[in-house]
Amino acid sequence: MNKKVFIKSYGCQMNVYDSTRMADVLAAEGYEQSETPEGADLIVLNTCHIREKAAEKVYSDIGRMRLQVKSNADGDKEGVIAVAGCVAQAEGKEMMRRAPSVDLVLGPQTYHRLPDLLKQVDVERKTAKSGRVVDTDFPVEAKFDFLPKTRRSVQPAAFLSVQEGCDKFCTYCVVPYTRGAEYSRAFDAVMEEARSLVDAGTVEITLLGQNVNAYHGASADGTTRSLADLIRELAAIEGLERIRFTTSHPKDMQDDLIAIYGEEPKCMPYLHLPVQSGSNRILEAMNRHHTRETYLATLAALREVRPDIALSGDFIVGFPGETDADFEDTLSLVREVKYAQAYSFKYSARPGTPAAEMSGQVAEEVKSARLQALQELLNQHQAEFNEASIGRRVPVLFERTGREPGQLVGRSPYMQAVHVQLDAHQEGEYTPSKDQAGLMGQIGEVEIISAGPNSLKGQLIN
Ligand code: 5AD
Ligand code: SF4
Repeated sequence: MNKKVFIKSYGCQMNVYDSTRMADVLAAEGYEQSETPEGADLIVLNTCHIREKAAEKVYSDIGRMRLQVKSNADGDKEGVIAVAGCVAQAEGKEMMRRAPSVDLVLGPQTYHRLPDLLKQVDVERKTAKSGRVVDTDFPVEAKFDFLPKTRRSVQPAAFLSVQEGCDKFCTYCVVPYTRGAEYSRAFDAVMEEARSLVDAGTVEITLLGQNVNAYHGASADGTTRSLADLIRELAAIEGLERIRFTTSHPKDMQDDLIAIYGEEPKCMPYLHLPVQSGSNRILEAMNRHHTRETYLATLAALREVRPDIALSGDFIVGFPGETDADFEDTLSLVREVKYAQAYSFKYSARPGTPAAEMSGQVAEEVKSARLQALQELLNQHQAEFNEASIGRRVPVLFERTGREPGQLVGRSPYMQAVHVQLDAHQEGEYTPSKDQAGLMGQIGEVEIISAGPNSLKGQLIN
């Protein structure tokens, strides 16, 4: 009988990708992936350390998972709880002390060793040692070289990691410590993974990296290839219709990458380009290596080659030393850019980062009030952006069925969720029509008929 693994992903898309790759590694060991923790022999929590809230959530989940594993126990053989990802990397042995029910702690750079680590847990248990294993090395070998070549479950829209780690050292951020130094995967290995995804039915690829636009992959011909080179080569793959990449750093938006938006229609006109703050004083204290002016100049250059490009962003409010005037600068930048969508956070002091030690830490109430004001403005812009879609015809990549019978849900080029009702339906039983089955994983033309804050409704144009 197959063993079952339940993997829960927290945080960013890189973790989502890593979770799918852990499932691939484990599939080769006879583990079947399960959607729920019930009955699982192995539970993997793939954690996020970026803000305190995300990190703390893991500890409450560990307790619940231990109870689950106990109730799943087959005879006296209790399942294994593994904690992976960035909390595991950052806390390692400390996590073992704080959470006695964790059996295995492994970092984001060592999950290709999962089968061996699980064997070690087993050996430890049998020999009545602690039964617990930690592996948070930054190994010299690159995990990508050890992962299975093919992916088990392939989606119409898939993630593909091309770059990892970060050398930018923004003063608030844990990523350089948890994910390590910046590393780019070899160009040809990325192309091979992309081709195998497309062969298996993927239509859209999102290239992932903490600093994806700093990508510089070695190619077999001895050259180093940029992200723009990679996008150009991917665009030539027949059957691949959409290319996205995230997350980009404003400083690394080089001319060749900006130009791609004018050259390559498969490159979607939607860019996640976090600015964090609109105040140059705060950007400097954050060690961001860009100013408000250079950010806006990049955006102007992008709009010149691709007038329909829309932006998404990340913001931090209440960074140490942020005054009302600095926060006003953020609001005025938001008014100027008009983001289609954005994420905004209260500054969270992370142990070991320079900003955690800075003077001028901002009071919690001030952070909350600023976050609320910023989110109101961002939401208003998002709603306006969505409303502007009404009456337009947009290509939608259908990715899943909706909650209503006969409904399909997909994404517009701008990542808006679009709900389409395919058949008028009667109360009661519903059998998916041929149309519905045929459209899944395909791009259809849809006319947008209404817009909400977070999604659109449309009808299929035949
Ligand atoms: N506090 C709040 N937000 C943070 N981010 C990163 N570190 C912190 C922190 N210490 C946000 C940034 C980043 C996003 C992924 O998370 O906006 O772009
Ligand atoms: Fe963190 Fe800055 Fe690197 Fe982004 S660029 S991962 S915010 S250090």
